[in-house]
Formats: sequence, C-alpha cells, structure tokens
Amino acid sequence: MEIVETVCAMKAQVAAWKAEGLTVGLVPTMGSLHAGHESLMDAARAACDRVVVSVFVNPIQFGPGEDFDAYPRDIERDGAIAAAHGVDVVFHPTAEEMYPPAHNTYVVMETLTDALCGASRPGHFRGVCTVVTKLFNIVRPDQAFFGQKDAQQLAIIKRMVADLNMNVTVVGCPIVREEDGLAKSSRNAYLSPEERQAALVLSRAIRAGEAAVAAGERDGTTLRRLMTAVIEEEPLARIDYIEVVDGLTMRPVEAIGETALVAMAVYIGRTRLIDNFLYEAGE
Ligand code: PAJ
Repeated sequence: MEIVETVCAMKAQVAAWKAEGLTVGLVPTMGSLHAGHESLMDAARAACDRVVVSVFVNPIQFGPGEDFDAYPRDIERDGAIAAAHGVDVVFHPTAEEMYPPAHNTYVVMETLTDALCGASRPGHFRGVCTVVTKLFNIVRPDQAFFGQKDAQQLAIIKRMVADLNMNVTVVGCPIVREEDGLAKSSRNAYLSPEERQAALVLSRAIRAGEAAVAAGERDGTTLRRLMTAVIEEEPLARIDYIEVVDGLTMRPVEAIGETALVAMAVYIGRTRLIDNFLYEAGE
C-alpha cells in the first residue's frame, strides 16, 4: 500500500490502472479511520479492482469556530488500517496541494443543502461538494462509497453526480455502530467518559423513533416530539435539530409516505453528533 501526496502522482497512478482496464473504487474520508470507514473500504474492495482511500481534513467544509484545528489526525495509524483492509493507495494531499492560493472555483447546490446540517453549518456542503468533485476528477473512480451515517451528504452527492452528469456510481453503505448503539464517528474521541455515556441518548431516540414508525406512527410532528422527549431526558444533551424529511428533497414532511429520513444533530457537551434512520415502505 502506498501513500500518495500529490495530485499529479495520484492522477498518474489512476491513468496506469485505467490503461490496464482496471476499475477504481474511491472512499473519501477525513481520516481518523474507524469501523464505519472500514465498512466502506471493504465494500470498495469487494466491488473494484483498485481501491483509493482519500484522507484529507478539508478546511473549506469547516465553519469559523468549528473543530478544523482539533480534528484528530494520524496518517500512520490510518495507513495501517487502510493496508489491513486491502486498500491500494491512500491519497493524502496537503491543504495547499488541494487549494493553491489561486483556487477560485466552488460547487454550490441550490436547496438540498439548506436543510438539516446545512442550516446549522452554512457553507459546509459547498465545501463537501467542492472537495468531492475535485477528488472525483483526480481519482476518476468507477464507484465511490459513502456512509448512510451522513444521510444528507449522501443525498447531496447523489444529486450532484446526477445533475452534473458525473461518470461515477455512488454507493451508500449502512451505519456502523458501537456495541452499545452509538454510531461510530471520529468525533466520538472528543467525548469524556461521562459524555460518552450520555451520547447513547442519540441511538436511544433513533430506536424509539424506529419502533414508533414500525408500530404505524406516520405523523412527523408526533415522531419529532417523541424523539425530542427521549433526548431531553439527558441533561448533557442539547438538540440542534430533529427532523422528519423527504429522503430525496430533504424538505420536512408532515406525514411519512413511501419513504422518509428521520435525522438529528445533538450536542453532547461541546461535541456535535448526528444520527438518523431511513424509513422505506415494504422494508
Ligand atoms: P468522514 O466524516 O471521515 O466520513 C467519511 C465517510 O465515512 C462518509 O461517507 C461517512 O458517511 C462515512 N461514515 C462515517 N461514520 C460512519 C458510520 N458510523 N457508519 C458508516 N459510515 C460512516 O464525511 C466526510 O468525512 C467528509 O465530509 C468527506 C465526504 C470525506 C468530504 O470531505
């Protein structure tokens, strides 16, 4: 396994693979790899001849006062994990490599990015869409793998790929959780032991919501109230949002129809965590 740091070297490697007729899978990450990322690598490994994992803490998707500086970085550990999962190349550029001083072009979506995390983090998805577009152009993957954990991000990337006619298949992969239910996240490392315990309230609320929907509840407001009540039982938790939205448009729905995304962001102390479940009739 190789760690490639320049755009030029990455493009040359991909060109060599393509010349051999090999398919390429890409797993975009910000590093601090965990079992959630590993599941994406495994899916890519199973589906593609060559697998690239990008490890890049993308400065332009962090707002002022967010955790860009604090975000955990350990490329040696990440490289070892990627190697153990059969990854061929870790693409690990510097911020200057991706955004040289003259950089002046961004990918901005119209409305999908306004709701949920986009409402709380203005400019976040502009940063995500821009970096993912750049990664797609550099790695030219046949398939790219994203987690359902970031449900809005996955919906946005799918929309962008369709809208801009990008030649890549976007594959969504299920949420990987700790044994006690907490969704795996690089940001879980910020939690104190007490907060780690308190963070279980997110998956508890998700399970309560899922159970209510399974029992026939279809009203968005009732569902939100029920999940809000679960979160409010935890003194260390502060709700950023709990929403019931259409899985494609991200617009709130009053009543759940064929499909809906139930998503939330909750602060545990100073750490913002997200979780969600997708309802699809007949599943
Ligand atoms: P990051 O938070 O590192 O996540 C990289 C990928 O791993 C995303 O597709 C995310 O949904 C997935 N992932 C994270 N936790 C997961 C879990 N518990 N189960 C399943 N998948 C999980 O998302 C980003 O980075 C960035 O925004 C990026 C797309 C790399 C652009 O910078």
